[in-house]
Amino acid sequence: VSGPTTGTSRTSPATETEGDPAGNRRVFPPGFLWGAATAAFQIEGAAAEDGRTPSIWDTFCRVPGAVVGGDHGDVACDHYHRWPEDLDLMSRLGLQAYRFSTSWPRIVPEPGRIEPRGLDFYSRLVDGLLERNIQPWLTLYHWDLPQWLEDLGGWTNRDVADRMTEYALALHDRLGDRVRHWSTLNEPWCSAFLGYSGGQHAPGRQEPQAAVSAMHHLLLAHGRTARALRSVDRDITLGFTVNCTVSDAAHPWHPEDAVLARRTEMLLQEVFLEPALLGRYPEGAAEAYASAGVTIPVRDGDLAEIAAPVDFVGVNYYNGGAVCALDVPEDEALPTQAAVTRPTSDPNVGLGSSTLVSRRLPRTAMDWEVQPDGLRRLLEYLHREYTGPAGIPLYVTENGAAFDDVVSPDGSVDDAERTAYVLDHLAAVADAAARGADVRGYFVWSLLDNFEWAYGYAKRFGVVHVDFATQRRTPKRSALAYAAVIRSGGLGG
Ligand code: NOJ
Repeated sequence: VSGPTTGTSRTSPATETEGDPAGNRRVFPPGFLWGAATAAFQIEGAAAEDGRTPSIWDTFCRVPGAVVGGDHGDVACDHYHRWPEDLDLMSRLGLQAYRFSTSWPRIVPEPGRIEPRGLDFYSRLVDGLLERNIQPWLTLYHWDLPQWLEDLGGWTNRDVADRMTEYALALHDRLGDRVRHWSTLNEPWCSAFLGYSGGQHAPGRQEPQAAVSAMHHLLLAHGRTARALRSVDRDITLGFTVNCTVSDAAHPWHPEDAVLARRTEMLLQEVFLEPALLGRYPEGAAEAYASAGVTIPVRDGDLAEIAAPVDFVGVNYYNGGAVCALDVPEDEALPTQAAVTRPTSDPNVGLGSSTLVSRRLPRTAMDWEVQPDGLRRLLEYLHREYTGPAGIPLYVTENGAAFDDVVSPDGSVDDAERTAYVLDHLAAVADAAARGADVRGYFVWSLLDNFEWAYGYAKRFGVVHVDFATQRRTPKRSALAYAAVIRSGGLGG
C-alpha cells in the first residue's frame, strides 16, 4: 500500500526526467538479486488450520463495509496447501529470491504458546525454496497481528515489542539454520497510521494518539527484535522495509508548497528511517504531531535501542506525487496538471491539510500515478541521505502495479501496462545504480494476484494470474517479461 502523495527530499532529488532513449541497454550491478514478494495474510488462506487463531485482519474483514466485497483471507490463494506448485512457478520464472512473511498467529496463537505445526509449515516452505535454489527472505511482521495481542491494546501497548521478539526468536530457533535474510517490519507507516488513525486497515481504529504510539512501539519492536536476533546469530543478514515516495511541490515557486512536500515525505518515511538508522526522530516530527494534539511516547534509552545495526534497508515504491498547500489558488495549477483535488479531511496524523495535485501521468487501477523516475530519485536520495554514508545497501523489496486485467479465452493475460510498469521501474533502478546508489536487488509485488487489504480481491497486483474460483495460476505477460530480464541480466538493447 502506498502512502499519501508526499514531499521533496531534504536536498531535493533532481526533478528532471533523465534521458531515457528507448532500447538503451541497461545493466544491473554484478550479483543483483531478482525476486518476487508476497505476504502471509494475502496468500495463505487456511485461516483456522493447524492451530492458527485470528489475526486483526480476520477480525477486520468481518466488519461490514471494511473490505470491498466483504472479502476475507479464509482461502486467499490457498498457498498454505498449494505452496509446492507456487515454488515450481518461481523456479520456472528464474527467481533467485522469495520475500514472504510469516503469520504471527500461526506461530504464537495464544499468549505464551508456540505452535509447532505453524513452524513446520514454514520449515517445509523454506526447504522447498532451498531445493529450488531460491533464497528465502523472511519478513516477521506484514500486518497480521494476533487478535489476542490487539485485545491487549495492540501496537499502542509497549509490551507488544517484547512479544514480537519472542515470536521472532521462536521462528529463528527453527529456521535460522536455513533462513539467512530476516526482516522485522514491512511498511510500519501503514500499520500505525492506516491501522490506528486512518482506520482503513486493521484494527480500524481512528485515534491519532494511538497511531503515534503504535509508530513508536513498532520501531521499538524492530530495534529489540533486531538486537535479539543478532545476539543469537552473529552472521544473520537483518533489515526492515519502509514504504517510500518522492513528492514534488506543485508550485515550486511557492515556499508553502515546498515546505509541505518536505514535511509530508518526512512524516511518511523519515519518521521510520531516521530513528532506525540514526537514533533520532526527524526534526519537526514531534511538532507536527503536537499540532494534531499527540505526542511520541519516547522513554529514556528507546532511541538507542531502536537504532540497532542493520544490514539492508528495504524500499517499497509504487508512486510519487505532488502536493500544494491549501492556500495556493487553484488557477495556479501547472499546465501539466490535470486537476487539483481538494481533500475533505486528512486522517493521517500530522501530515496536515494538503491538496493532492493530479498530474497528467498514467494511473494504475489503484489510481496511483505511474512515475518510474521517482524510483530513481528515491534510491539516490536514500543512498545519499541515509544508507550510503553507513555503507548499508538498499533493496527494492516491493514494486508493482494493479491493473484491470483481461483474461483471454485461453486463460492468458496480456498485461501490457503492468509489463511496461515493471520494465520502466527496473530501468529506473538500473539508472540509480549507474549513478551510484547501492541498490542490490528487486522484488516484484507480487508473485500472485492476492488479497489487496481493504480492496479485497478486486485489485490484482500479480505477475501470475489467479483464478480464485479454481485456484488456477497463469503467468501473465509481465511474468514472462520479468523472467526474460532475469535470464539476460539486463534490459533492452
Ligand atoms: C505494500 C504492501 O506491503 C503490500 O502488502 C500491498 O499489497 C502492496 N503495497 C500493494 O498495495
